[in-house]
Amino acid sequence: MSANNKNYPYRLLTPGPVPLHPEVQKILAEPMIHHRTPEFERTLKNVSEQLKDVFSTRQPVFMHASTGTGAMESAIVNTLSAGDEVLVVVSGKFGERWAEMSKRLGLEVTPLMVEWGHAVEPRAVQKYLDAHPNTKAVFTQACETSTATIHPIREIAQVVGNRESTIFIVDAITAVGAMELETDAWGLDVVIGGSQKAFMLPTGLSFITLSEKAWRFNERSLLPRFYWDLRAEKKSLAKGETHFSAAVSLVRALEASLKLLTGSEKKRTLQRIEKLARATRAIAEPLGLRVYSHAPSPSVTALLTPEGIDSQKLREHIEKEYNLTLMGGQDHLKGKILRIGHLGYITDDDMLATAEILCRALSLDQCLGVVMKIMKRELALEKN
Ligand SMILES: Cc1ncc(COP(=O)(O)O)c(C=O)c1O
Repeated sequence: MSANNKNYPYRLLTPGPVPLHPEVQKILAEPMIHHRTPEFERTLKNVSEQLKDVFSTRQPVFMHASTGTGAMESAIVNTLSAGDEVLVVVSGKFGERWAEMSKRLGLEVTPLMVEWGHAVEPRAVQKYLDAHPNTKAVFTQACETSTATIHPIREIAQVVGNRESTIFIVDAITAVGAMELETDAWGLDVVIGGSQKAFMLPTGLSFITLSEKAWRFNERSLLPRFYWDLRAEKKSLAKGETHFSAAVSLVRALEASLKLLTGSEKKRTLQRIEKLARATRAIAEPLGLRVYSHAPSPSVTALLTPEGIDSQKLREHIEKEYNLTLMGGQDHLKGKILRIGHLGYITDDDMLATAEILCRALSLDQCLGVVMKIMKRELALEKN
């Protein structure tokens, strides 16, 4: 951790990894136990039940000891076969990853190109599927993290759901646990998540769930798989086990953070994330920044820096001088946007410090009063 400026404690406000929940930190420091023990079996059973609540599904949710990209690969190899025609929404870096991965795994990929920062039109998906009834799957992100933009998942699901021979595969890595996402009720066929996002954990666990329709695809799917074999995981989970060695510490820590993502706490956590996103958007204008996305996400905000201010240099300056890590932009957005994450264990103090640091780093000390007032109002720390 860099600590060049001792006046500022280290803060992490990126769209993953995220600050850890204090209970998670405590559990991660505990001695190791074996994954084939009654104690871990109990944890696994509990976590598996709770994950269904997070994903809003009655189907099993599986964990891979991998980053989110592993679950992306798992989604493909567990449902499709070489030569299958698929439609991939490409509106940023992670849509590009779906397209590249699908190609590499032998699928016939048609990208549905969407201008970065914009949401895909469900009508465009409908039009394509009407003209190409052989399409086996539609892929998208729920939140395209590289542009901080959300796609209309529910509406796309309505378009895809009418077709028995097409499934809808959703990368919800920066969406599940962070915004409304109803796997069963909306008819999403494959949904994936990652631990270093709304789950408030370190990187290293990915999540995946399949609808009944997707399990029917699984029976016919011919792509080779070994580590990612969800049929094997399903059999093991029914016995209270993971198929391979479990990421014991992460799963035990997950049991703690799931308390904030399930039951009556679920809504409160989503509202909190939404509030942090709203507060960030509200301070943009007095800071001379503009919200980049036309469909802004609650989990991450992308802010355009004005002409003449390189966001990459600003990001580095903020990290070096103020001990705050934010993210920049990728590809043509490099140097143009700052991305601020709203996932994980983010305190009001983190938000106030971020507002202050942005003012100082942009040499807008004269706006400090106004910006802090807006931030306090948005966080409901001060009336009007
Ligand atoms: C939407 C989305 N998809 C996929 C990934 C890749 O996940 P990982 O870096 O955990 O492999 C990320 C990571 O930020 C993401 O935000």
